[in-house]
This record gives sequence, C-alpha cells and structure tokens, in this order.
Amino acid sequence: MSSLRKIDVVTPLLGEKRGQMPVKYCASAFAPSNIALCKYWGKRNEELNLPITPSLSISLGKLGTTTSVCLSPEPRDIVTLNNREMPATTKFAKALATFLDLFRPSPTVFFRVDTQNTVPTAAGMASSASGFAALVLALDDLFGWALSTKNLSILARLGSGSACRSVLRGFVEWNAGADEDGLDSYAEQVKGTWPDLRLGVLRLSELEKEISSRQAMKCTRLTSSLYEAWPIKVSHDIALIKESIETRDFELLGRTAESNALAMHATGLAAWPPVLFWLPESVATMRKIWALRKEGLPLYFTMDAGPNIKMLFTADQLDAITTEFPAVEIVEPFSS
Ligand code: DP6
Repeated sequence: MSSLRKIDVVTPLLGEKRGQMPVKYCASAFAPSNIALCKYWGKRNEELNLPITPSLSISLGKLGTTTSVCLSPEPRDIVTLNNREMPATTKFAKALATFLDLFRPSPTVFFRVDTQNTVPTAAGMASSASGFAALVLALDDLFGWALSTKNLSILARLGSGSACRSVLRGFVEWNAGADEDGLDSYAEQVKGTWPDLRLGVLRLSELEKEISSRQAMKCTRLTSSLYEAWPIKVSHDIALIKESIETRDFELLGRTAESNALAMHATGLAAWPPVLFWLPESVATMRKIWALRKEGLPLYFTMDAGPNIKMLFTADQLDAITTEFPAVEIVEPFSS
C-alpha cells in the first residue's frame, strides 16, 4: 500500500497557496448531508480514504451542516458543536484539530470552528460527511483559495470518504479513481433532478453504534468471502441507478438502491468478527415495507452503517407513508 500521507496530497494540491495567511477573519459555509443509493464500502487506501468502487448518493437539500471558521482569539483551537464548546479531548475536537493541521500556515495559528448541524439529531443521520464538506468550503473562503469543486471534493474526502459527495447537490457520483495519490478520486454531479422524490427517515434506536463504518468496512474488506462480489454488484447498480434517474423510473431506482444496501450488509455478515448493524426493529420494519409493497405501495428503503431505515418513495404516497409510519421524518432532497 502507498505510504502517502494526507499532507503529501494537500501540499501539491494547494501549491503556493499553502502556508499563506487567511484573507479574512471569519468565513462560513453550508454543505448538505447525503445518503448513498449505491454505497461506498471498502477502501483501497485507508489513510487517503480512497474507495475500491465508485458510489452514488443523493444530497438532502436543506439538511446538513453550517460551519464557520475564524482565526482563534486564543492560542488554541476552539471548537463548538450546536453551540456547545467541545473539550479538546473529545473525539470530535481531536478529529477537527488533526484535519486543521493540514492547513495551518504555522503551528502557532489556531482556529475557532463553530459547527451547526441542521440534520435533525432525531433523524440519526451521519453528519461527518456534511461536516467535513462544510469545513472545507469555509476554509476555502477563509484563505481565499478559490479551489475548483473537484479539489474541494478531494480535500473533503481526506476528512471522511463520503464527505467528498457533500460538496455537491442533487445526485452525486464519486469516481473511485485509480491514482496512488487519489487526485482522480472525487465527486461529480449526475445530471437530473427528481423534485417529487422523498426520503422517510425512521430512527429505530437511540443506542450508540457498536462499530464505526470505518472499522466495519475494513473488517469486511479484509475478512469477508463475499466481498469479492461487491465491486461487480456496484458496477451493475451504478449503471441501473443512472438509468433510473434519466428515465425517472422510480421502481428501478428503489429496487436497485434497496438491493445495493442489502448486499452491503450481507458482505458484513460473512466477515469475521461478523458485522451486523440490524436490530429486531430494523428487520420488522423491512418486513413491513416488503408487505406494503406486496399490497401495491411503491416503497423501498436503504440503510447505512447503523440500525435505522431510510425509506424511498414519491410525494404522491406521502399520506399512505405517514399513516403507516407516524414517527417518520420526511426529507425533500430537491427543495431549495
Ligand atoms: C455505509 O464516509 O463514514 O455510509 O471514509 O472512513 O470516514 P470514512 O467512512 P464514511 O463511510 C460511509 C459508509 C456508508 C456508505 C456511504 O455513505 O456510501
């Protein structure tokens, strides 16, 4: 495996801009959360978050993260999350400080980073993707780099893989790339909108995840005998999802996304130690969705590295969905 560090990518990418002082005291930016319809699952490089396969997501409109970055008035980084200061010893503050190290003009320059998640915490959706994307967009403004979307996506990926998709809106594809330094591994917008597409988030557990997506995908890639089937599955599913977007074929979109998510979870079951995110409530909800579909309701789901379920449907089914799932949280991906 390549021994390139993140800094070995950031330095040439920023060129002479690296090491220069910010051009303003404060900058702020918003980035949307995203949900993968075809998942990113397995890395060819752990340090640079380089994926084995491409992936394709939908961004969540107004739901995401707003981050402001300022020069710190004190000789330390100050980090707040939803208006609460996070001690330097927390995982959140440490991850930010390590990421900011890549961009400090000198070790004596510190930042104040204020992060506000507009993803309702009750929805149980990952905020690291929108968080790193918003941070990179804010840093770009603070330093006056004026980077291309491609380079912003590359920088966000260094924070968290799925963050590279959150610098864009709508349907987004992350090209896996093949280069050792990952300069060809970034996200691009997929043409097409789908204004009446809806997501319904069902938070099924308040419990902390037992295993992070980072650890889970690593264990799966290294130990699961089913993993070798995954890249083949992805190449089919990406093509089908793009076709469904072009032709607005909801049934094709739904069944491909659902089957892709189930296949991802299946690779985990064959890992050792086994990776299983589902709770009894997750399985019961899947069965309920399958039963409703049998009765004629066009309803599908996807799941990430946790027990919660994100349903996919179209606006005309809203009443039926809210009747069946009163606790559902509705997301309009294409609302501006
Ligand atoms: C199951 O992007 O959180 O949500 O690159 O290690 O930070 P790191 O992983 P992360 O993994 C997301 C995995 C997923 C699928 C997806 O979003 O594509």
